Amino acid sequence: MDGRWNVVNSGGTHRIVVTKDLPGDQWLEILENSQCRIDVCQSRQVLSPDELRDAIGDECAGVIGQLTEYWNKELFGALARAGGRVYSNYAVGYDNVDVETASARGIAVGNTPGVLTETTAELAVALTFAATRRIVEADDYMRSGQYDGWLPDLFLGELLWRKTLGVVGAGRIGTAYARMMVEGHRMNLIYVDVAPNNQLEAEVVQFNSYLESIGEQPVRCTHADDIDSLLAGADVVSLHPALTEDTYHLISGERLARMKENAILVNASRGAVIDEAALVEHCTRHPQFRVGLDVYENEPEMAPGLAELDNVVVAPHIGSATRWTRNGMAILAARNIIGILHNYPIWNQEEMSAFLHPDAPAVTPSIINREALELPVFPNLSG
Ligand code: DGY
Repeated sequence: MDGRWNVVNSGGTHRIVVTKDLPGDQWLEILENSQCRIDVCQSRQVLSPDELRDAIGDECAGVIGQLTEYWNKELFGALARAGGRVYSNYAVGYDNVDVETASARGIAVGNTPGVLTETTAELAVALTFAATRRIVEADDYMRSGQYDGWLPDLFLGELLWRKTLGVVGAGRIGTAYARMMVEGHRMNLIYVDVAPNNQLEAEVVQFNSYLESIGEQPVRCTHADDIDSLLAGADVVSLHPALTEDTYHLISGERLARMKENAILVNASRGAVIDEAALVEHCTRHPQFRVGLDVYENEPEMAPGLAELDNVVVAPHIGSATRWTRNGMAILAARNIIGILHNYPIWNQEEMSAFLHPDAPAVTPSIINREALELPVFPNLSG
């Protein structure tokens, strides 16, 4: 360990490594109150696999790690040898974690769902409108002193009201985004997911009753069988799937070519869902096609040419970056650690708010490989 590490509660019994300092202080109190010694890395650089192995050392009960680190065989081997029982990813996505290896080593893998849903959906909405209404180009134009006065054709964009929205992946975040766009902007919805989202469909039925009660036309909600019909029909396509082998390069050059020439494409999920080189080519050839990106195939790099495109708005993976959410993620990550150390059962419901309170239940919020490790769950609905 070097000077980049800050040790909190040095006399604690369980040594926990936290690879980046986290917002708020409730997460630290949770760990301290459970007799943990916490080693927190103060560096803002991504730690290399060697640095992570050094940080684990000979004795480490658990780690809170980052989505920028690749938790593979070597690191889980080191953690298991150091007596580690739990790794908690400071993210809801966990494509950076080899969960199978962790399970084989008996290490529980946690994540932080539930507290980023609306925050990430709001960022996707922000990117949608920034791209549609050309906000970044217009901002540059103002700041560079080019604005000479109002003109009938200055920065024309597209109207989204009552147009068609395509949502790829109707999980928590995709559903929250769909609600915002359907209820706020009366968009007709086409979505793809492995199964119909009954809750979302029921909400649209309710919303239509409201629209009819005020004399407005209803909106349509369709579960599409295949992504290609969604891409062909949508004015806006927003991507919300987890990154897996099946969704890697889901949006290929061929699929981009199926989209409307003036469509809006938004990605706040994982960069590799889009073939980024193909996207650069498509956007170069179709200046009316507009894109809002929060994530990149090879973060922190962008594909050559992307940064030069006026029709692309780029943000530095800030989907979950609100104070409330990042504090909440830190609390859930800490509770995953202590839950496993205390052998608490694993929560098996979606609602996470109880875990944000100081008097949270003696339950572990979110362990991905709970089934593989045969961990007890709460509530145990099988009786
Ligand atoms: C996540 O949690 O997976 C996000 O990408 C981080 O904001």
